[in-house]
Amino acid sequence: MSNTASSTYVCLFFACCLCYSEALPAKLNPEAVSDRPVIGILTQIVSDEEMKPFGRTYIPSSYVKFIESGGSRVMAIRLTLKTTEYEKIFSNINGLLLIGGAADLETSDFARVAKIFYRLALMANDAGDYFPIWGTCMGMQLLTVLVAGEDLLERTSAENIAMPLDLTPEASSSRMFEGFPDNLMKALTYEPLTGNFHNYGVAVKTFQENEKLQSFFSLLSTNVAENGVRFVSTIEGKTHPFYGVQWHPEVNRFQWNIRLNFPHSAHAVHLSSLLAEFFVNEGRRSLHHFDNPEEEASSLIYNNTPVYAGNFTAYEQLYFF
Ligand SMILES: *[C@@H]1O[C@H](CO)[C@@H](O)[C@H](O)[C@H]1NC(C)=O
Repeated sequence: MSNTASSTYVCLFFACCLCYSEALPAKLNPEAVSDRPVIGILTQIVSDEEMKPFGRTYIPSSYVKFIESGGSRVMAIRLTLKTTEYEKIFSNINGLLLIGGAADLETSDFARVAKIFYRLALMANDAGDYFPIWGTCMGMQLLTVLVAGEDLLERTSAENIAMPLDLTPEASSSRMFEGFPDNLMKALTYEPLTGNFHNYGVAVKTFQENEKLQSFFSLLSTNVAENGVRFVSTIEGKTHPFYGVQWHPEVNRFQWNIRLNFPHSAHAVHLSSLLAEFFVNEGRRSLHHFDNPEEEASSLIYNNTPVYAGNFTAYEQLYFF
């Protein structure tokens, strides 16, 4: 009995080894899908005084959990590397998340590094090498700056407000919302499922008058700011797998500060889950991978420990770098 059990164990063990060693050198196959994706998240520059003692850059755990909840692992990408090092990382990861924060969209290190990845992704996608990018809040704003080649932001205050989305006709034929059940799609239009925490944004008028933005992105939703300006709230690339939301899908499941209007209803949670799965599924279409398991293991955010930040920030946990 115990012999049988142990030989079963050994068989399984070897079977796993075989699978792994066969899976690693997989040749590029256009039909292939990566089931072990790694999404890179650019670290954000610390601007809050309270956070400065802990490090110069950070990533809120809510974004990491958002990506992990879609079935991916996360690599934090620091802002202090050389261009060649970013090129190497680009060949290792399956997608990129640009998070919110407060940084100059043209001159900061965050913008500089984002631009390197944006250009690499643009070239890769144009050459048939799928590589998705998702921008949330300032990350979306940065995507518009990269595409337009200029900063088109203006005041569109929506600070600490949850709103429904004013979906455009293009939303129903979008990739982002394609798998959404009808009831959730309907709820999106009248329940406050999207948390807004921004003072600036891209006005719809500006978007529509800008040839570059207009031809690159489909406008999936808009909203009206406190100052009456209608702003861009959801976009996706017409031919590139680049996605932007002015709102924060990650807070619906992973941030809980009672002073902030984070949507936590069942629909809000479902929305956040579906978008995480959507973006990670986009990442699965990238066959980028690390050179070996050791390099991969040492690159993942599992090597870092988040700190409890609920008593000095509006976040519960933060990774500092
Ligand atoms: C927050 O709580 C931690 C313990 O969980 C403590 O070490 C730290 O000093 C606290 N920070 C502030 C600013 O109160």
